[in-house]
This record gives sequence, structure tokens and C-alpha cells, in this order.
Amino acid sequence: MAFTNLGDLPVLPQPESFALTAAYNEDTFPNKVNLGQGVYRDNNCQPWVLPSIREAEQTLHNQQVNHEYLPIAGHAQFLTKARDLLFSPAIASQDNITSIQAVAGTGANHLAAIFCARNLRPKNVFISDPTWDNHHLIWEIAAPNVTRKLYPYYDPCTRGLNFDGMLSELEKSAEENDVVILHACAHNPTGIDPTQDQWKKIADAVRRKKLIVIFDCAYQGFASGAADADAWAIRYFYTTLFTESSSSTGPAGMFVCQSLSKNFGLYGERIGALHLITPPLLPTQGAKAHLVRLVRAEISCPSLFGARLVHTVLDDTELVSKWHEDVKTMAHRIKGVRALLKSELETLGAQGDWGHIEQQIGMFSFTGLSSAQVQQLREKHHIYMLSNGRMSLSGLDEGNVAYVAQAIKDVL
Ligand code: LMR
Repeated sequence: MAFTNLGDLPVLPQPESFALTAAYNEDTFPNKVNLGQGVYRDNNCQPWVLPSIREAEQTLHNQQVNHEYLPIAGHAQFLTKARDLLFSPAIASQDNITSIQAVAGTGANHLAAIFCARNLRPKNVFISDPTWDNHHLIWEIAAPNVTRKLYPYYDPCTRGLNFDGMLSELEKSAEENDVVILHACAHNPTGIDPTQDQWKKIADAVRRKKLIVIFDCAYQGFASGAADADAWAIRYFYTTLFTESSSSTGPAGMFVCQSLSKNFGLYGERIGALHLITPPLLPTQGAKAHLVRLVRAEISCPSLFGARLVHTVLDDTELVSKWHEDVKTMAHRIKGVRALLKSELETLGAQGDWGHIEQQIGMFSFTGLSSAQVQQLREKHHIYMLSNGRMSLSGLDEGNVAYVAQAIKDVL
């Protein structure tokens, strides 16, 4: 429906994670707790600039860098390092990976959606139920002619992965050339990932049905504390579906949307990359030219600072090891507060089994709290989290975990 009078445009709700941060910032209650947006916080619930990034900032400052335009495809050395991090240098030396800089994970997802809609023309895009809400908005806006379909992911009875439901839905409903969005690790919002055996079965279905996978990789390092381990699924799909020894009759392509917002703590710098993997031995120049054209139309060329910072870290052996330590620090702190929250809830005798809080991985816990309970947490206790029951664990620390556990017990 077109509106000639722009005053008639309906007011839309703000995306929830941003609305929560705004509401939290306005709340004057001294013991308020922000468990909403997926941003890492240190032991005192404060933003944390990674020490490796602090050093890179200093290096760039000393270099007295200029501020010229980047090429449209982005910062070439950054892209090589980012690709190596994802695929490992051995795999990334293959020439069927085309990498382009993107405006963080969202920009990479958006670019992938537009590129697919224009060049691969899938009928459907399969999105996990539940997922990060922006997947829906991105596809609604970037690819309105592609039908969005849900595949089951979370089983509320087991509080685990509904693997059979997921696989049978893809087997039954996905058609050749349809897109399936998979979270590479630390699934947002559930914190539940497939096992390696399950990933193998998903890859097999993708190969047989010739589906186009878009891996959303926003948390490499956050799931296990080890960047290589968290890239396992991506590397497995690559080697099974897109190397010379793999079948030549597989999918037309695969995408990896790489965000460096979380694992480098560079949220506001909007740094990421999109990697397009094509079947071996196909020319890639055409696909790259089309990606470049989309970037030119949207942002002309990407921004510099985040790319320089990540490149500076990944290009220096000492800084790389420091960064690996930084990622471990973040992952271990989150694991620590998982155990703390579970133990507080059990000590208080909060009704139910809280084992899932410790079993889930990454930044979030899918608590199982209902939207009514979440609303009460906010209204009565000034604790902010997503209405689907997702809790960003980084907002917990030793000082507030008892308060949060008591409040949860109260709303149950
Ligand atoms: C989140 O899931 O909270 C973050 O990724 C922030 C966002 O963009 O929603």
C-alpha cells in the first residue's frame, strides 16, 4: 500500500534489543540489570575494550594513518586475514572463496540476501525458529519476492535442539536452490548448536537437495573460547561441498556472513565480511563484480577504522595470541556466570530444572521464561531481557546474580 500523505505512515515498534537498551538507560532504579542486547560486559558489567584492540589503536595512532577511500571491495589485507580466521589459512588459499568487506554481520546478511534474490532467485528462504529477529527484517526488505519459511529449531520440552524436526522440514519443504540460514556457532537466541554428527547430516541434506547455505557467523570464539573450534561447521561444509574432491553436482554456492563486532568488541565500528563460496574451478570474477556493484550502490565503499584495527591485530603474531586470550577471557567469564546463576537458582529452590543454563553456549541463555514473566521482571525488578526469554548473560556479575536469581524465583 502506498502512502501519498507521509503523515499516514504507521508508527512501527523499535527493534527489541535496541528498545531495551534505551529503556534501561532511562531507568533510574539503582539496581537495574541489563540482560537485553548481546554485548559483552566485563566483571563489573562495563563495556570492555579488548587489550589486543587497545594496542592496535595505539599502533594506528603512531602510524599517523591517512583517511583515503578504501577500494569498493574493502581493505584487501583485512579481508585475507578475516578469511583465514574463518576458514584456516590452508582452506582459504583455495581460489573459490570471494571475500568482500561488509557493514558488520547485518551488512553481510543484507548483501547476501540481495545478491541471492537478484542472481540465484530462490523461491524460499528457511530461517530457524526462533532466530535473531533481524534475519526476518533483512529478507523482508532486501528480498521481498523470496518467501520466508521457518524450520523448527528449539524444542521447549527438552530445552534442546529439535534436530529431527529441523531436518525433516528441510527434507520435506525445501526445493533446489532454496536458501537456508544456519548459525555457525552459539545460536542466537537459544545458545544450542548441532553436534558435529548432526552438522554432517545437515550438510548431506544440503548437498542432495542443492540448497544455498548462508552461515551467519557472529560469535566465532564465544562458543568454546577457541576460534578454530567454533568454525568447525563452516570448514566442514566447505570441504565436503566445495572442494575439488567433493561432488560437482552440489549447491550453486554458499555464503558466510562474518561479524567481527562481538569477538573483537568492535560493536559500533560495524566491521565484517561476506564470503561467497562457489563450486571449484568456476570463474569468480563475475560474482565478485556483482557484489562490488551492490556495495557501490549502497555505501560506495566500506569504512576504514574497524578493518585497520582487525588487520593490525591479525597481522601481528604477538597481538594474535593476545586476541586469542581476550576471546578466552570473554567466553570463560560467560561460562562462569552460567554456573553462578544456575547455582543461585538452585540454592534458592527456584522451581524447575536449570541445567540448560549451563549446557547452552555463547552469549545467551534461552531461559524458558514466558513473555509475561519477562514483563514482570522488568516492571517489578528493573531487569531487562528479550520477551522470548533470551537473557544476555554478560549483564550478570557476582554483584547482581543473587538479585536476578531471587527476582526469577519471584516471577515463576
Ligand atoms: C543482539 O542479538 O542482541 C545483538 O546482535 C544486537 C542486535 O543487533 O540485535
